[in-house]
Amino acid sequence: MPIHEQFLSAVDLETVPLIRTRMLVVGCGIAGLAAALAASRRGPVVMAAKSVFMESNTTYAQGGIAAALAGDDDVDLHIRDTMEAGGGLCDEPAVRVMAEEGRIRCRELIDMGTPFDRVDGELAFTREGAHSRRRILHADGDATGRAITATMLDRVCRTPNIHTLENHFAIDLLHADGVCYGALFLDTKYGRLLRVEASATVVATGGLGQVFRETTNPAAATGDGYALCYRAGATMEDMEFVQFHPTTLYLAGAPRFLVSEAVRGEGAHLVNQDGERFMSRYSKAGELSPRDVVSQGIFKELNRTGDAYVSLDLRHVDPKLIETRFPTIMSVCAEFGLDIRKDPIPVRPAVHYMMGGVRTDLDARTDVKNLYAAGEVACTGVHGANRLASNSLLEGLVYGCRAGMADAADAAPPFPAPTLARSMPPKGARLDVDDLSRSLKALSWRNLGVYRNGIHLAETVETLKAWMRYVLAEQFQMRPGFEVQNMLTVGFLIAGSALARTESRGAHQRSDYPEADPAWARHSCVAIDKDAS
Ligand code: SIN
Repeated sequence: MPIHEQFLSAVDLETVPLIRTRMLVVGCGIAGLAAALAASRRGPVVMAAKSVFMESNTTYAQGGIAAALAGDDDVDLHIRDTMEAGGGLCDEPAVRVMAEEGRIRCRELIDMGTPFDRVDGELAFTREGAHSRRRILHADGDATGRAITATMLDRVCRTPNIHTLENHFAIDLLHADGVCYGALFLDTKYGRLLRVEASATVVATGGLGQVFRETTNPAAATGDGYALCYRAGATMEDMEFVQFHPTTLYLAGAPRFLVSEAVRGEGAHLVNQDGERFMSRYSKAGELSPRDVVSQGIFKELNRTGDAYVSLDLRHVDPKLIETRFPTIMSVCAEFGLDIRKDPIPVRPAVHYMMGGVRTDLDARTDVKNLYAAGEVACTGVHGANRLASNSLLEGLVYGCRAGMADAADAAPPFPAPTLARSMPPKGARLDVDDLSRSLKALSWRNLGVYRNGIHLAETVETLKAWMRYVLAEQFQMRPGFEVQNMLTVGFLIAGSALARTESRGAHQRSDYPEADPAWARHSCVAIDKDAS
């Protein structure tokens, strides 16, 4: 599939201001912060964020970070739970690295000052779906991601070797002949371009929820990193596996705000509009089944009843516990007139997390030389077909750190810019970027949702190809245009991969292929056709 670089073709790179560094980190969530801190021990680092540093998926993470640190827990149990939730597609060595090193990295977070909640001085662990132990560390009740980000960011800002750039949108990776040399940025505050050339580049740009109409992800989650790496020639893996979080607030006018799985972990019931608990109809483990099973159970129940939402009922839970454990959820719901101690919370599934992504090895290396990926944008093989709750922060922390420790030359090799020279695309009709973005979100929500089928997937692939053709004829200058281009690429990769996987497994459910097929107990892969452009 040919796509873009038309912007680069129109830019004389020699005239763009240049920074040279040993390591470039694109992204500022837990993986980017971990990579920058690890890399700073070996040399200079540039860490760039498309928005402000506190604006990442990590900041919004509520439930917590899973680590086998409790007295009754061990690494093998954590590995077993992760692999069972993953629908037969988790890579055991990658899971082991995460579970083992995760304990060390979490202790480092504690030493760095992360204010994880404690009871009588001891770390407090909560439970979430499909965990056989209480193993989720949390902070400020349900503001774990914010506490971790603030702690790590403070350390980053006090590290002299790390040069930080806010409001720098990565337009494209600088790459030639299978080698990455850094990235070209648009400084969105001042409208200037910046080239950063680096011996090693870590893409840690987070997720892609904004490709869908209903998502827990913030506005910045437009899947840029997937598109950047794909265009640079990296292999994408398991792009069909998009996780829906079962419980997001469903109220007219309210954002699709996440109501943490820890709420069920602390005893909340999922009920239909007759007040009846229904999950046992769909799974033995009920409300604490793996996330894919709970989302599918909710949709089956909604189909059965014809209702638009189900509810989370906390009325039997100690109000004091609710107040201390879920202050953020309580205050957001209160803004919409709900007292979660007394009122059931209306919820529905929404897109939350991408299990697939840029294929990486155990050291976070992609198959493009000098290019690494970590966090949600990467596919380490840890999550398989369905991620176990609260493993995402852990994976980002562990593999972000591994990426930051990559061997890299001290001096960045110069980018052979002339290899990028291309002819200008023909000037196209002016696109309505907002309209295209809304259309994409609606299409993805309709056809790439919890239940999919071949006819709609094939239609989606064709529609996205046509929309990508308009985009190819357009010269973008601003962030929204580049983002929509990235979102179309990502939507296309999801739809194509979902069409190819003719079975149901984990978060990928096909109504025309409702069973798992042992022949598909493998990862799917897609890479750009280099001869097609
Ligand atoms: C949650 O708090 O339910 C989200 C945690 C996660 O996505 O793992």
